[in-house]
Amino acid sequence: MRLIIEPDYEKLSCWAANYIAKAIKDFGPTAEKPFVLGLPTGSSPVGTYKQLVAMHQRGDLSFKHVVTFNMDEYIGLPEDHPQSYHAFMWDHLFSHIDIPKDQVHIPNGNAEDIVAECALYEHKIEDFGGIRLFLGGIGADGHIAFNEPFSSLQSVTRVKSLTHDTKVMNSRFFGNDISKVPSTAITVGVKTVMDAQEVLLLVNGYAKARALQAVVEGPVGHGWTASALQMHPKAIIVCDEASTVELKVGTYNYFKDIEAEHLPPECLLIPDEAD
Ligand code: GLP
Repeated sequence: MRLIIEPDYEKLSCWAANYIAKAIKDFGPTAEKPFVLGLPTGSSPVGTYKQLVAMHQRGDLSFKHVVTFNMDEYIGLPEDHPQSYHAFMWDHLFSHIDIPKDQVHIPNGNAEDIVAECALYEHKIEDFGGIRLFLGGIGADGHIAFNEPFSSLQSVTRVKSLTHDTKVMNSRFFGNDISKVPSTAITVGVKTVMDAQEVLLLVNGYAKARALQAVVEGPVGHGWTASALQMHPKAIIVCDEASTVELKVGTYNYFKDIEAEHLPPECLLIPDEAD
């Protein structure tokens, strides 16, 4: 596992966007051989999406041959509900880039047969040869996608009941009214994420400090589902300083030291320019 520690959220977002852009360009996607990108929602990726949009608008990055699969979607929320993950993705990314609509995949939380929808989603990922790079966020309790604590580390796409903690956290998007937060969601599984060739996790802010400590220093376990990434051959966590406060000084120094030689080129974008 690599842990990239950036000074703040803007730099973290810039690092992640640069990494994704380079991965797409190096791959050289075509219509026959698209780049398959896994994507999250939540507040963590907003800055990264902003940077990717800016790169696209400057003519530096095309998504014409990129196929996307989102991690999750609430069950029973209309697609055009402002807090649906469909709406989020179009608002923050897809409406602003050149990705063809039929290359975007988001679980259908309103499918008549939700169980069949989950199986179909997993099969679609397989049909594209799996996810090349899965971008993710993390919950304060260490969950990845909606794989709540004690989800199987071998899980695939399925229905999950959301924990009370997650509903409380996400109620900020629903006027702080927990009763408006859906209780279930379709989510890719931990195994679905682990099967990706690369995983890039975004972790920012003090609220994620315990999760980062558990995922980086703790044992692999289903209590903090993102800890499974310790078993992934190519996992990167990019975090900000604020989220590192629970790490041991030795751990922090180790990653700062080892990554000093592997820093990517300077951030291409001044964040304010992307606004
Ligand atoms: C939700 C999403 C996760 C996301 C998490 C953290 O539970 N299903 O994919 O990582 O929230 O969200 P945020 O980035 O807003 O902290």
